[in-house]
Amino acid sequence: MAESPWWHGGVLYQLYVRSWRDSNGDGYGDVRGIIERLDYLSWLGVDGIWLSPTMPSPDQDWGYDVSDYTGVHPELGTLDDLDALIAAAAERGIRVLLDLVPNHTSSAHPWFLDAVSARDAEHRDYYVWADPAPGGGPPNNWLDATGQPAWQWHAATGQYYLHNFLAGQPDLNWWLPSVHAEFREILRFWFDRGIAGFRIDVAHGLYKDAELRDNPPLPPGSSRLDGRFGLRPVYNANRPETHSVYREWRKIAGSYSPARLLLGETWTGDVGRLASYYGNDDELQLAFNFPFAFAGFEAPALTAVAAETTAALPPGACPVWTGSNHDIGRFPTRWCAGDERKIRLALLVLATLPGTMVLYYGDEIGMTDVDVPAALRRDSMTLSGNNPQGNRDRARTPMRWDDSPSGGFTAEGVVPWLPLGNPLQPNLTGPSVARQRDDPGSTLWLCRRLLELRRAELGGGIPRLEILSAEPHLWVYRVGRLVVAANFSGRPAGMPAAAGEVLLTTSGEEPGTDGRRGAALGPWQGVVARQSG
Ligand code: NOJ
Repeated sequence: MAESPWWHGGVLYQLYVRSWRDSNGDGYGDVRGIIERLDYLSWLGVDGIWLSPTMPSPDQDWGYDVSDYTGVHPELGTLDDLDALIAAAAERGIRVLLDLVPNHTSSAHPWFLDAVSARDAEHRDYYVWADPAPGGGPPNNWLDATGQPAWQWHAATGQYYLHNFLAGQPDLNWWLPSVHAEFREILRFWFDRGIAGFRIDVAHGLYKDAELRDNPPLPPGSSRLDGRFGLRPVYNANRPETHSVYREWRKIAGSYSPARLLLGETWTGDVGRLASYYGNDDELQLAFNFPFAFAGFEAPALTAVAAETTAALPPGACPVWTGSNHDIGRFPTRWCAGDERKIRLALLVLATLPGTMVLYYGDEIGMTDVDVPAALRRDSMTLSGNNPQGNRDRARTPMRWDDSPSGGFTAEGVVPWLPLGNPLQPNLTGPSVARQRDDPGSTLWLCRRLLELRRAELGGGIPRLEILSAEPHLWVYRVGRLVVAANFSGRPAGMPAAAGEVLLTTSGEEPGTDGRRGAALGPWQGVVARQSG
């Protein structure tokens, strides 16, 4: 029988390279810094790491504007450093995933520099060009990520080019076979070097409507996943043709041994559409579940998405559970408002759902968003204050390794690229790895124990998620031999009878008894039990 892929029941750790560990004292995290701290990841028990963009870039969008798809950004290291990381990680059983940005390039990419040189330039059609609308002005009503027209006028060649994000991020034209061919080569380049897979940026966005039709209005009350700035992105996202790209890439990923992983940033509020990106087990192996991350931190909301996801995914497909990332912010803030009991409960839920768990760096110590003062912000996409994602710098601040002024992130005296905390609130030090590692009752230790339990009980498979009850304040589910009970309230709750042998609780203590109702869960307490047999 074929061995299960590592991500079935596995844990992927998203690491924002610039903020994880600075090895050379320039204030920016780097690839060598990751190598220095691999033993920590191995102690924690992760199966893979996804590095936020590492390729050369002018950094208008911190690497999501690529100027060379087969290099390493000099600020982060070299190709040799990356090779060394792949090898050192492999020694510890950790796979390395890169971030791939196929929806757009940087305007500094040689393809675009050529494309703007003349209308008949070799790479002109690599991008989406259009004439002005009949009455003049942009070709249609599409808006970019800042709410401005998604079209930039290029006077020298007398046409507009499309940018769904910043003007420095021109969209590629996926209707062109040469663009497909370029990316097939890029995939092979990295797979040949031992990269275990890609997180695919804007995976839902590659194809655009061939007729460039106007987007319809967004109905009032729609979620942020359904659209923004009053428009529903019907014609510039989630186009059916995009699936052909993943069928092509899946064949390439599957031709390697072990198979490489394609994990999509599938931005959709519709779980059915999310499921479509898995194809017939011939597209993405994993697709991010944003409806789950955006659900309220309450049993009915989370249960509803979990149940819908389980029902919608094709047989054998592996769901993905995450609460934080570099765009949407950190779950310890969004879900838990910094309350450690809730943070522990959220970790327990994420770690006991079947499929793949994605941790964002710092989740394991309960790092919260940082209120970065306006003068120190670095994210140009949200600097205008107009982006629905708010200020993304809040979730990109340096990892807190220890309690020193540099946080152990960089050398003492060096100013990190983003502050560790809000300098206007000097007493707000936040959690650190060093402090929590010394305390077996800490969130970090709980997370480590959860990952250990996950590996032992859920690793190598995708057991069925059976929801046993979802009352407003209590979620109980069975997964494999485990029964999980999570109390989403500040009041004690009854433990389900016959839950089995308690393996772990978020408070570190066995659930107590309230005399009347048998075993009780404390406020915001979660329990994992194992049924015998
Ligand atoms: C999604 C990425 O996660 C985000 O950080 C970026 O700004 C956009 N895609 C554009 O690449």
